[in-house]
Amino acid sequence: MSRTDRATAAFASGELAAPEAGDVLLIRAATPALAEALPHDRLLFEQSFKPAHDTLAAAGLRVTIRAEKSAAMALVTLGRSRAENLGNLARAIALTPPGATIALDGAKTDGVDSLARQVGAVLPLSGSFSKAHGKVVSLIRPEAPPPEVAAWDAAAAPARNAAGFLTAPGLFSADAPDPGSVRLAEAFAGRLSGRVADLGAGWGWLAAQALAACPGIAALDLFEAEARALDCARVNVPDPRAAFHWSDVTRLGRRDGPFDAAICNPPFHEGRAAEPGLGAGFVAAAARILKPAGRLFLVANRQLPYEAPLAAAFARAEKLAEDGGFKVYLADRPRRA
Ligand SMILES: C[S@@+](CC[C@H](N)C(=O)[O-])C[C@H]1O[C@@H](n2cnc3c(N)ncnc32)[C@H](O)[C@@H]1O
Repeated sequence: MSRTDRATAAFASGELAAPEAGDVLLIRAATPALAEALPHDRLLFEQSFKPAHDTLAAAGLRVTIRAEKSAAMALVTLGRSRAENLGNLARAIALTPPGATIALDGAKTDGVDSLARQVGAVLPLSGSFSKAHGKVVSLIRPEAPPPEVAAWDAAAAPARNAAGFLTAPGLFSADAPDPGSVRLAEAFAGRLSGRVADLGAGWGWLAAQALAACPGIAALDLFEAEARALDCARVNVPDPRAAFHWSDVTRLGRRDGPFDAAICNPPFHEGRAAEPGLGAGFVAAAARILKPAGRLFLVANRQLPYEAPLAAAFARAEKLAEDGGFKVYLADRPRRA
C-alpha cells in the first residue's frame, strides 16, 4: 500500500475529515489516490518532482511546485530526510489558520514514530491512525506556534554546504559531493567539448566540475526532475554556458538533442527500493539525445548491473575505472531505435 493510500484510508475511516470549505493542501503526495476520498476541486498538491507532478496533472488534479496560498487543512507525506519533513510541517503550519487540522503521513521506515514523538513534544497530537507499516498522525494548528517551528523552517531552507554549494535537506548528497560523482569528474576532466548534457544534474556539482575542467564545452544543459535541486543548481552554476531544464530524463527524445557528450550519475532508487530500471532508462535516454559520434560518461555503484543497459543502447562501452565501490563507464556509438 502506498503512503497516499494510507492517507486515503484515514479519510475513509473518519480519522481525518476535510473541512467544510477551503483547500486541502497535500505536500509531497506522489499519487492521485487521495482523489478517491475527497472532491478533486478541494485538493491542491504540492509536488516538485517532475514525474510525480506530471502524474498528478495528467489525472486532472491541481498541482503546484510550491504552494504559496493558504489552505484550510494540510497533509504532509514524509520522505527520508527528517529536516525536510520538519520543514514541510513548518510550512503547513504557516499556510493554515489556527484550528486547522495538519496531518503527517509516513512509513515506519521513514521514521514516522520518532518524528511523531519529536513533534508531539512541542505540539500536542490529536490523532493517530496506523496502517500498512506506517502511520498518519494529526495535530490542531495552534494560535501561536512554539519557537521550534521557526527553527524547523530555518533548518530546511537552502544553505551553503561545507564545499560552498547551495543545497537543501532531502536533496541527493546535500552535505558534500557524492564520491561516485567525484570519480566521474576525474574521468571526464579535459575530455568534454561541444554541446554537453548532464542527466540528473542535482544541485549542480558535476556540472560545475565539467565547466571548470573542460574549456571546450560550448553549452551545458542540466536536466533534473527535482525543482528544489535545480533551483540550487542555478545558483551553483552561474556560467553563461549552462541552461537548466526541469524535466524527466527518461522522457527525453531526439528532439532534445543532439549532444556531443552526456555525463550522468543516475538515480538508482525511487523511494527506498533499489530500482535498476530507472538507471537503465537514463542510459537509453542518453543514447537518444547523443549524436552518432556522441559519448556518455557514466558512474554507477559497483554492484548495480549497468552492463546490459549500456550494451543495449550503445555499440561500445568501456570501463574506465573501478574503485571505492564505484565503476565509471565511457559508452559511445549510440544505437538508433
Ligand atoms: C545520483 S543523483 C546525481 C546528482 C548530481 N548529478 C550529482 O552528481 O551530485 C541523481 C539525480 O537524478 C535526479 N532524478 C531522479 N529521477 C529523475 C528523472 N526521472 N529525471 C530527471 N532527474 C531525475 C535526482 O533528483 C538526483 O538529483
